[in-house]
Amino acid sequence: MSTGQTLGRRDSHFVDGLIPDYVRQFQAYVPSKPDRQLMLEYGAPFLHRLNNNENALGAPPAARQVIADYPLKRLSIYPSGDAFDLRQALAARFDFDADRFLVGNGSCEVITSIIKAFCERGDNIVTADKTFAVYEWVAEFSGVEARLVALLGNAFDPEAMLARIDRRTKIVFVCNPNNPTGGYWPTEVLVDFLERAGERIVVIDEAYCEFVEQSDYPDAMSLMERFPNVVVFRTFSKMYALASLRVGYLVGSAPVVDAVRRTSTTYSVNSLGQIAAQAALADTTGHLDRSRALVREAREFLGKACGEIDLPVVSGEGNYIMIKVPINDTLMYRRLMRRGFMVRSMTGFRFPGWIRVTLGDAAVMAAFADVLRDEIATLRRGATPSR
Ligand SMILES: Cc1ncc(COP(=O)(O)O)c(C=O)c1O
Repeated sequence: MSTGQTLGRRDSHFVDGLIPDYVRQFQAYVPSKPDRQLMLEYGAPFLHRLNNNENALGAPPAARQVIADYPLKRLSIYPSGDAFDLRQALAARFDFDADRFLVGNGSCEVITSIIKAFCERGDNIVTADKTFAVYEWVAEFSGVEARLVALLGNAFDPEAMLARIDRRTKIVFVCNPNNPTGGYWPTEVLVDFLERAGERIVVIDEAYCEFVEQSDYPDAMSLMERFPNVVVFRTFSKMYALASLRVGYLVGSAPVVDAVRRTSTTYSVNSLGQIAAQAALADTTGHLDRSRALVREAREFLGKACGEIDLPVVSGEGNYIMIKVPINDTLMYRRLMRRGFMVRSMTGFRFPGWIRVTLGDAAVMAAFADVLRDEIATLRRGATPSR
């Protein structure tokens, strides 16, 4: 049987002819290797992943319990194709009809589904230049123009975004709070934007909403009745710490969700993910408060530690902080990897010279601060790394 690696010249030429230009030009995302491989490559004694904004506390107790109790005989049975029970639980929690929720294999999948549902060639989406890149990537590999607007301070720039919207703009993506800067639109700004955005979909991606502690942060779901073009994205990957099970969802008005359902893959959300998400949602043990407290303390601690060594930081809402480093961010990433800490190098987010660090466990934050201090001191002495 012929595989990709054994394709002859003629075969590969034949494949090339089938690939649309916008797919050919798109550079595939390269996921990180498994821990054991990375530890081997970097000679790291351990590995703390501080690169993906995961919750160090782990999943709420009830979610762990349903996973531990999961009956093995269910492994051979397909999951609910439309996450029926989870949607009922979301409906009860947020007081909307269950049909207004669409659950995906992480919210990344619903990004793809909504672009497929509304955009065709010649259309565009509008979002920021320095934000979660998947909106831009999906648009690009779907042959749809992604119009990227510079941030205003650390949040999206409403006026500049309105100026880029035209009649072919089908979707506007607003990351609130923004990953990676932590800036957000307060209620007033969001409402004003929605009043002026016209007849197009406005996605409010609230992947980190549960971490936000500011009282003027909007409840975008409560705006959906007034603005039927609003679609809210949420995920169980961050606050609820179920990232490996891949569960995210959108909620919007019935006709919008009905359109997106047509382009969604049925059965893409596994059973374990569905029941764990349902249990996580019902948590009454104070998981959210504990997680928020952990992040608050970590933000304060790391902010102060960076201040002491004169490293500028950007940190707003969300469980992450950006740190400006005095060398190329990829080189800094490698130095930190050798010491057992994986951060996000930010050139890919258009923030060259910055790293993003997930805020979490106090002991890990302290160990990270020690290593960062040490590396910065080495750099400032002009010495080469110790290992
Ligand atoms: C802003 C934002 N939206 C969506 C996602 C995707 O989350 P998931 O696909 O795990 O639900 C992420 C993940 O990092 C994110 O930062």
